[in-house]
Amino acid sequence: MVDNLKTNFLELETEAKDVLDKNNRGNYTCPNIRLYPYQWLWDSCFISIGLAHYDIDKAKQEILSLFEGQWANGMMPNILMWKHNNEGDNYNTSNERIWRSWLNPASPNELGTSGITQPPLIAEAVVKIGEKMSPSERRDWYKQVYPKLLKYHQWIFEERDPHGEGLALLIHPWECGMDNTAPWMQELSEHSLPLWLKALMILRIDMLLGLFRRDTQIVKGNQRITNVEALSFFAVQRRLRRKRYNFDKIIDHSLFAIEDITFNSILIKANKHLKEISRTIDKKLPEDLIERMGISEKALEDLWDDYAQEYFSRDFVSHRLLKESSIASFMPLYSGSISKEKAKIIVDNLSNTHRYKTPYPVPTSPISSDWFNPQRYWQGPTWINTNWLIIEGLKNYGFDKEANELKEKTLKLVNKSGIYEYFDPLNGTPLGSNNFSWTAALAIDLINS
Ligand code: GLC
Repeated sequence: MVDNLKTNFLELETEAKDVLDKNNRGNYTCPNIRLYPYQWLWDSCFISIGLAHYDIDKAKQEILSLFEGQWANGMMPNILMWKHNNEGDNYNTSNERIWRSWLNPASPNELGTSGITQPPLIAEAVVKIGEKMSPSERRDWYKQVYPKLLKYHQWIFEERDPHGEGLALLIHPWECGMDNTAPWMQELSEHSLPLWLKALMILRIDMLLGLFRRDTQIVKGNQRITNVEALSFFAVQRRLRRKRYNFDKIIDHSLFAIEDITFNSILIKANKHLKEISRTIDKKLPEDLIERMGISEKALEDLWDDYAQEYFSRDFVSHRLLKESSIASFMPLYSGSISKEKAKIIVDNLSNTHRYKTPYPVPTSPISSDWFNPQRYWQGPTWINTNWLIIEGLKNYGFDKEANELKEKTLKLVNKSGIYEYFDPLNGTPLGSNNFSWTAALAIDLINS
């Protein structure tokens, strides 16, 4: 199978390596030079998984650079604004001023970062890189990253699971990695829009703000988040900044906190990896952490809705499930902790033509949903990272035929349409930015595994 894929996608693999090369900024790889010139957390994890197939040092560097942005409390920020001066980059310092991470004493001194996080894929990347090493190299690698990785997982539980319920909560849509995905947008519109933004919407003058957006000068506006979504994201970000990213203060005042299904599914898998890493280097994980990890697996089951036969994210305060189906509902497959029966129910959605079966799967919203828009960012298009997570999930449960099918469709799509950020699930049109790093990296991984 791998040999076949290697021959069929030889050119794609070469092109993908070229994209990663061009997006390399010395100590990290940016997602895209023009649209995303900094380092992003889960992007770098996906990128290192691709790099590990042919350049272990660069793969390791990607993760080590991420750890340089780690806050003193263990938090891993989703954006690291390394300063560099590469020609053609859209780098500018306005983002540092927007975030002002220096307001929080735990932030790094020399590096501007965001004040929020992203799905915890680091342990997965560490292990995938380790798989490509000899046992002694692997042990050295694990020893090198273990203290920081441990601190990171401890932070997730200590800060983001304040009631010890086993599920981490997120405080900004950017933290779930799928910015304007339907369930989050539904929730945000219900209780978090400031009055001035509601007024703008009523007066219909939010379009004017399009003039000031940098992203829509690079990518067509109908493929990005709407102006209202962008404004509401910044409104939430400003609220967090006002509290200097101090979590206790944020959670005391904020009504907007979500136990996100993607983040928590990835966390469960990451916990398993952390256990394996600690075993390999003969370290004992703290007892209380092991206990919290165990609670997570059980708590994920509370996100199952019997009526819809689906997992959903949950509002932290009201404990109400956000019953809007999205690609996130597939992520428990990746966790590997759900039952085979439930896995089968989720997998059946892939062959349901009213929901997730499209010519170029898997769409981020079901086609029957009012939210479905084939070109709008995380509300319809197919993304390669979510396909990759689903493929890993299918393999967890022995759905090998389905996993291989999705893998082939994914590679054919990228081969036909180019190394873009996302794709129209109905006709394969490439969308967002071209030369997108995680599409390149994960194509390399799919070809070689
Ligand atoms: C967008 C995506 C996010 C990604 C970032 C950089 O914000 O929604 O998942 O990490 O771009 O590629």
